[in-house]
Amino acid sequence: MSLFKRDHKEISRTAYNHIIFRTFYGVPFADEFMRAAKKYCPPEHLFEENVLRKTSPIFESRYRGGEEALEKFIKINPDCTVLELAAGFSLHGATLAEKYPRIKYIETDLPDIIKIKEKIMKGIGANRSNIFFKSANALDSSTLKKISVAAKTGSKIVVYCEGLLSYFDDDEKRKIAKTIKGIVEKYGGVWITPDPALSVESREFLKKSWPAFRQTLKKAEKMAKQKYDNHGFQSIKDTDRFFRECEFSIRKYNWPTKLNFLKTSEYSEKKISEFKSVLKKYGKVWILSLHGS
Ligand SMILES: C[S@@+](CC[C@H](N)C(=O)[O-])C[C@H]1O[C@@H](n2cnc3c(N)ncnc32)[C@H](O)[C@@H]1O
Repeated sequence: MSLFKRDHKEISRTAYNHIIFRTFYGVPFADEFMRAAKKYCPPEHLFEENVLRKTSPIFESRYRGGEEALEKFIKINPDCTVLELAAGFSLHGATLAEKYPRIKYIETDLPDIIKIKEKIMKGIGANRSNIFFKSANALDSSTLKKISVAAKTGSKIVVYCEGLLSYFDDDEKRKIAKTIKGIVEKYGGVWITPDPALSVESREFLKKSWPAFRQTLKKAEKMAKQKYDNHGFQSIKDTDRFFRECEFSIRKYNWPTKLNFLKTSEYSEKKISEFKSVLKKYGKVWILSLHGS
């Protein structure tokens, strides 16, 4: 019998469009990654570039916010291990492992995705001796615990996930929180995630002023065969309550609003300032530690 109550393979389809998104942000390796990924991307899982361009600032802000929060932790803990869950085709590992050669960066995802990721990273020369690829279901606590054993001895661990919790229901969120709590308790460190920022509450605002965002969400729901509003978090209040119940202390880091994409986009000043005010209110990275640590 399967360990899991459902198969998350369908969620993996949502990883492909982020390869294109990242080429708009100006991050290292994004263009090379996209060229190399073409042969692996099922065309039916890719949205029109025009729609992606219009939605891009939301994801650029989340991406940069998450990476900045990770960097802050790395600067204080230069020998730490980063354990990224559901890394998909993200390039945080490529950037951070190069910039901070003392860290150990472990990328994990479901088997099909992590195999492709490893091939592409090696093919484009983005792989480094301090990056490791491991297949892991984020709900499989025994696999995650085994992988964590490979963390650098005596150094802290930062568990990171971006674009994952929005697909998890309440039981799944509690399960992953319990596993991460165990890891952080054992090695010391934190759990960092920007995921709760895209809650039911913030999506309502974004959908109103950004029709392209509404369109992207609808398509992604169809692909993942699930509704966003029945998963992830309802609001900031709901998120904070959840993490406190799971015994985490909460700090928050703001998503940036100075974005590369906005410099070249055709959005009006009014639209940009509307967008920035939603980001200022909702765009946060959650930094979760255990009481007293
Ligand atoms: C929206 S994508 C985000 C990928 C990447 N973090 C990014 O920001 O580009 C969602 C990712 O979650 C992964 N995923 C879904 N369920 C998972 C699970 N139970 N365990 C591990 N990864 C999972 C998918 O394979 C996919 O790569």
